Amino acid sequence: MADERTKYLLTEDRIPTHWVNIAPDLPGDPLPPLNPRTGEPAGPEDLTAIFPMALIGQEVSREPEVEIPDEVREAYRLWRPTPLYRARSLEKAIGTTAHIYYKYEGVSPAGSHKPNSAIPQAYENAQAGVRKLVTETGAGQWGSSLAFACARFGLECEVYMVGSSYDQKPYRRSMMQTWGATVHRSPSNRTESGRANAEHPTGSLGIAISEAVEVAAQDPETNYSLGSVLSHVCLHQTVIGQESIAQMEMAGEEPDVVIGCVGGGSNFAGMAFPWLRRNLRDGATTRLVGAEPTACPTLTEGVYGYDFGDTSGLTPLLPMYTLGHDFVPPPVHAGGLRYHGDAPVLCAAVRAGLIEARAVRQNPSFEAAVLFARTEGIIPAPEASHAIRVAIDEANEAREAGEERVILFNLSGHGHFDLSAYDAYLAGDLEDPEFDRSGVEAALAKLPQNVPALD
Ligand SMILES: Cc1ncc(COP(=O)(O)O)c(C=O)c1O
Repeated sequence: MADERTKYLLTEDRIPTHWVNIAPDLPGDPLPPLNPRTGEPAGPEDLTAIFPMALIGQEVSREPEVEIPDEVREAYRLWRPTPLYRARSLEKAIGTTAHIYYKYEGVSPAGSHKPNSAIPQAYENAQAGVRKLVTETGAGQWGSSLAFACARFGLECEVYMVGSSYDQKPYRRSMMQTWGATVHRSPSNRTESGRANAEHPTGSLGIAISEAVEVAAQDPETNYSLGSVLSHVCLHQTVIGQESIAQMEMAGEEPDVVIGCVGGGSNFAGMAFPWLRRNLRDGATTRLVGAEPTACPTLTEGVYGYDFGDTSGLTPLLPMYTLGHDFVPPPVHAGGLRYHGDAPVLCAAVRAGLIEARAVRQNPSFEAAVLFARTEGIIPAPEASHAIRVAIDEANEAREAGEERVILFNLSGHGHFDLSAYDAYLAGDLEDPEFDRSGVEAALAKLPQNVPALD
């Protein structure tokens, strides 16, 4: 049984020295991304217009571990290792026999896990002599993180911010500007992709990605940077899971289930993949559960196939669960979870039956977030609240089954810039949009045709 501690802290010398690459441990060969024009596997030359070679190397790496550059570990020291907590007050409030632990990524300068990847991406681009990075942001967390990382490594930063988040979170924009970035509301009239999607004023991550890729592809000194989905982003986030393994050892407990929310898949992958590697190599049996919004249920309702990563069809085709690249999810407050696809490496693990997925509605996720805030003190980001909901549901199931379940979840960020969403919830005005299957069917009908069927 665990002792009475609340926090499990590691010293700076315990920041991982390597990232965990799960790809070589997954069954079968990975499906390659495809060139959208030829339908043939995309090579590095398809990516060099917008990414530096070092990140392309990480993207396709088959090494089980990738060394973290010293300069990146140095920057990680600003907030890593992050704390792991035992949620004793929450446990008491829900009267559970389960033990609930959470890893808290909200202590980073931007308030979430996103700087874990923004820092190495800015570093490698600076090393390659790139002058400026352009990106999209949904919740504002990724844009803030890249703005912070660009300031640290002397790069300019331009951000296309999804319209609904731009309106809901003006202070995220202020944060990015404070770190020196330029911010545009997406869809904007600055790009062809933005103008072509003017009829979707609330925007989507897919549209904002199209705008950012379009800008980057036109300027040889400008690169594009993506905050999720790609394998190198999931790789960077594995510092979370590795630290959590060491911290659970300090707590003297083995989790039965590890949970994270899924937008493009990076924080969940970062938390879950080091645990998954133990399952695959050492015969551990930890369940791994991804929590996504009912309004954008990619893993639970999507089809498995090749699709574009963006709305306008500018990116290579990725093998993933998708709701269709021009599906525009309803403007739920978990803006970072409004993405039509998911990381190919995560989708491959789900398809292989190694990872479970659950969809969570908006109001129950806020109910869990408010209970968490009132017991544990931290006000969670709406994205992370999906993981809290599933953790509480797991704890309730454990009580009903008379089990002592050990539950670990990733609290991917704080919600200090999401208080208008909390206002709406507390006033009883928060909508709970249904999943619009008709919108998805129209979007799925537009999946690329010149590629192998996967489903
Ligand atoms: C706090 C937080 N959690 C989770 C996510 C979802 O992204 P990912 O699935 O890449 O972790 C976001 C995205 O913006 C976020 O801001």
